[in-house]
Amino acid sequence: MIDQIEQIRRAAATEIEAASDLQALDITRVKYLARKGAIANLFDNLKTISATDRPAMGKALNELRQSVQSLFDQKKASLDLAAMPQQTSYDLTLPGRMRWIGSKHPITQTIDEIKRIFIGMGFQVATGPEIEDDYHNFEALNFPPDHPARDMQDTFFITDKILLRTHTSPVQIRVMENQKPPVRVIIPGRVYRNEAISARSYCLFHQVEGLYVDKGVTFSELKGTLLTFARQFYGSSIKYRFRPSFFPFTEPSAEMDITCYLCSGKGCRVCKQTGWLEILGCGMVHPNVFKNVNYDPEEVTGYAFGMGIERITMLRYGVDDIRTLFENDTRFLKQFR
Ligand code: DAH
Repeated sequence: MIDQIEQIRRAAATEIEAASDLQALDITRVKYLARKGAIANLFDNLKTISATDRPAMGKALNELRQSVQSLFDQKKASLDLAAMPQQTSYDLTLPGRMRWIGSKHPITQTIDEIKRIFIGMGFQVATGPEIEDDYHNFEALNFPPDHPARDMQDTFFITDKILLRTHTSPVQIRVMENQKPPVRVIIPGRVYRNEAISARSYCLFHQVEGLYVDKGVTFSELKGTLLTFARQFYGSSIKYRFRPSFFPFTEPSAEMDITCYLCSGKGCRVCKQTGWLEILGCGMVHPNVFKNVNYDPEEVTGYAFGMGIERITMLRYGVDDIRTLFENDTRFLKQFR
């Protein structure tokens, strides 16, 4: 029997070593280790051995089984590993993939700067819907029913009474409807107009609106606030002027000009040789507007202003076609980092 054990040990070792895949290996398991395998067979033969030799034989058989089992386990582990999908190996010296850092859109940069200045003067930031109703966009702002701004040509109507807001002024109404005086807000946002698209005008653009309502607010406060803004935004050396103007929702109304900062007032193509650039519209809130939001015009006064963002952004960064601000071509946007 000792001979048989040695024979099986050697044969099993050779066959296990030779198994080239898991299937081949399993054949050796069946042959040697399974319940009807060669080793089990030898255990069965123990009965035929004399009682004196039996313990030693039993011990030798146990050792055989253990050693074959452990050869089998080792081989199985190495075949399992080989059968796993090929592991990726990492080249730690390879330079990392470049990550592009985004940048704020130039329009956002301009709005952020305007916000910063007005927040510094005690204004809060308010917003409102871009899809508006006729009431907030026109009627409550004292536009007469036949006002040309309501013309189909300028306004994108969604239905008879629902439209894309043509300015940020309707948010004045919404703020006052929801809040008692004092009110001191700026309102940045997108506005829409049905205009022919060209290098100078686009169907959507941005405005920042301002509104201050309290007891005893005066026109000179309006001037002082806007001048403080303009000096911070355009530079402390600018000259300015207020020209009388007309808006349905303010009385009196004005437009503010500053010296053209491209030609310093000498006259150039951008300021159309006048030396002046118009930067905003403004005025004292019309009593009818106050009545529409249940404010008492005998008790409070206020000023409002509104400015377009695209033109000043274009002047600031030397952009000559408004459409580039809306195409979001990253080659263009990258320049404003
Ligand atoms: N809403 C005006 C426009 O789109 C701009 C404007 C003018 C706003 C005067 C105001 C203001 O608040 O007082 O042209």
